[in-house]
Amino acid sequence: MINYDEINITDAVNARLADCQNPRLKQLVSGLTRHLHDFAREVELTEQEWEFAIQYLTETGKICSDKRQEFILLSDVLGMSMLTVLLNNRKPQGATEATVFGPFHVENAPWYDNGDDIGNGAAGQPCFASGTVRNMDGVPIAHAVLDVWHSDEDGFYDVQYPSDKLAGRGRLRADENGNFHFRTIKPVAYPIPTDGPVGKLLQGTSRHPWRPAHIHFMVAAEGYSTLITHVFDKTDPYLKSDAVFGVRSSLLGDYQYHEAGEIAPDGTIMDEPFYTMHYDLIMTESMAPANTANPQGSTAAA
Ligand code: BEZ
Ligand code: FE
Repeated sequence: MINYDEINITDAVNARLADCQNPRLKQLVSGLTRHLHDFAREVELTEQEWEFAIQYLTETGKICSDKRQEFILLSDVLGMSMLTVLLNNRKPQGATEATVFGPFHVENAPWYDNGDDIGNGAAGQPCFASGTVRNMDGVPIAHAVLDVWHSDEDGFYDVQYPSDKLAGRGRLRADENGNFHFRTIKPVAYPIPTDGPVGKLLQGTSRHPWRPAHIHFMVAAEGYSTLITHVFDKTDPYLKSDAVFGVRSSLLGDYQYHEAGEIAPDGTIMDEPFYTMHYDLIMTESMAPANTANPQGSTAAA
């Protein structure tokens, strides 16, 4: 057939998938085609606009490197990352909710012992974090592996600095009672990178780039679904307008302020103000075996 019109061209494209041997691929490509064509018809897309969109995606690709993933950032600000998280992490009431992974995770972060300072020189006010990893029955999960990362007081992750030094991140194991505790610095709210195409999109649509202060946790344990989440500062002004739509009310943590001179959880009499934050992480059982050495199982570039 030739002479396709504005409507029947969609079925014509999908008819070409007749010989596709992979049913899931067929479903994905035909669904994408249908929604793309519907989008173009709905907004009466001009040729100049489509050309602009292609140029925009080209620039997005060009800025990507082993240190920067602008497509993930684009997915984040379009709410696509969080939607995918929601679709794939339907958990029962009481389980710790998942949220976006973000671009700043580093595989094979240094190992620490419970109680160590994972801040490792990152700038900021001291923060003593603790909690227990439990299952849905309240039973502690012994030796769960926690991978933790967060920004410093200037709103930057270690990987955003030219130096290769890792700071404000690390892996540790919960003890035999599922308890974990570590010292670090209190993260602050930060803007996602705006010096690329995603920044142009935010600016062009009058959106701010800020994320509320949070600590990232990725928790893995044999027999449980790996949990990728954050614990947010419940007082942060950006909770309701997170640039990447990742906030859940169940993930609001109480970062408690303490004056200089008070005794920290590790017994130190502190000569500067500090914070404590306690948050229990509740995991759900999984069918698939956990990879506790590399829970995410893939590379995430910053
Ligand atoms: C983050 O929380 O690290 C993050 C998530 C999405 C986009 C940028 C940063
Ligand atoms: Fe973050």
